[in-house]
Amino acid sequence: MVKKICCFQWIIALGFLLLAAAVTSKNHGNQANDLVDIINKNRTAKKLPVLNNSPGLSCIALQYIKECRVNCSENNTVNCKPPENDFTEIFAPNCGVELPTFGTISGLIVGCQQKHLDPPEAFSRALIHSNKTLSIIHNKTHTEVGVGIVRAKSHKGPYLWCALFSSNGKNSSFVLEDLGKGIEQKEGCYSGSGVSCSSGGRNGNSVFVINRVWTLVFCFLVLGRTGFF
Ligand SMILES: *[C@@H]1O[C@H](CO)[C@@H](O)[C@H](O)[C@H]1NC(C)=O
Ligand SMILES: *[C@@H]1O[C@H](CO)[C@@H](O)[C@H](O)[C@H]1NC(C)=O
Ligand SMILES: *[C@@H]1O[C@H](CO)[C@@H](O)[C@H](O)[C@H]1NC(C)=O
Ligand SMILES: *[C@@H]1O[C@H](CO)[C@@H](O)[C@H](O)[C@H]1NC(C)=O
Ligand SMILES: *[C@@H]1O[C@H](CO)[C@@H](O)[C@H](O)[C@H]1NC(C)=O
Ligand SMILES: *[C@@H]1O[C@H](CO)[C@@H](O)[C@H](O)[C@H]1NC(C)=O
Repeated sequence: MVKKICCFQWIIALGFLLLAAAVTSKNHGNQANDLVDIINKNRTAKKLPVLNNSPGLSCIALQYIKECRVNCSENNTVNCKPPENDFTEIFAPNCGVELPTFGTISGLIVGCQQKHLDPPEAFSRALIHSNKTLSIIHNKTHTEVGVGIVRAKSHKGPYLWCALFSSNGKNSSFVLEDLGKGIEQKEGCYSGSGVSCSSGGRNGNSVFVINRVWTLVFCFLVLGRTGFF
């Protein structure tokens, strides 16, 4: 009997290991954060300072491309210019950016592609489409960066990328209300948020719900077999 329980303990341990692996493999991280890392690596290689990854700024970048989602052409160019006022009247409120902290935007890059690109390719093909955009990335005045990624239609491309740069004192601008949480975004990816998102589509919590249900089922099975009930 003692031996049997010991064996079930191993099964439990193994089960939880497998569950943990399943949860992490479903978590694709945050590709907007990966892009911020790539941008910073490209800057530091030129001895330029690292930019602060700002969730407030990146959420505004996400709003910007959401407004441009129908404007990606067949040849992967974005012809889109939202009105200047939208930044403070629509984008910031949608994110929960505290308006008095709305800072100076010192650079903007928008790119799109018909198919999804992984961060290194998104950097070199969607963001750097000319020497002009590379010089925006290498501008000395920036202090903060934020990247947003969105899928134009709910189940397919094109995909849009936006990098916004600002030149304010670090951490004092684009502050998100509710102690930095801001307003939860239902779709897309934005950097600095700690929220995982795979490729700019809907941020369903379904994966986590399914995992929780499986964890419960698993626990009941194991407890039942060990004679707990
Ligand atoms: C890309 O498409 C746009 C709009 O369809 C067009 O104005 C532009 O000339 C095209 N550019 C190239 C390089 O083909
Ligand atoms: C997107 O493209 C449409 C159609 O060409 C145009 O009417 C609209 O103004 C564009 N959107 C923005 C925000 O520029
Ligand atoms: C850097 O950005 C600032 C603010 O947008 C701009 O005034 C300046 O011309 C840029 N510098 C270069 C070298 O592009
Ligand atoms: C920075 O990015 C540009 C454009 O993709 C690339 O040509 C250059 O090699 C990069 N620099 C470094 C140090 O990675
Ligand atoms: C872009 O920059 C590179 C390196 O500075 C230069 O060799 C190239 O001629 C430039 N291309 C254009 C189109 O200006
Ligand atoms: C800004 O935020 C970063 C990350 O949260 C933190 O490490 C850094 O100390 C902050 N800087 C200032 C000046 O508050």
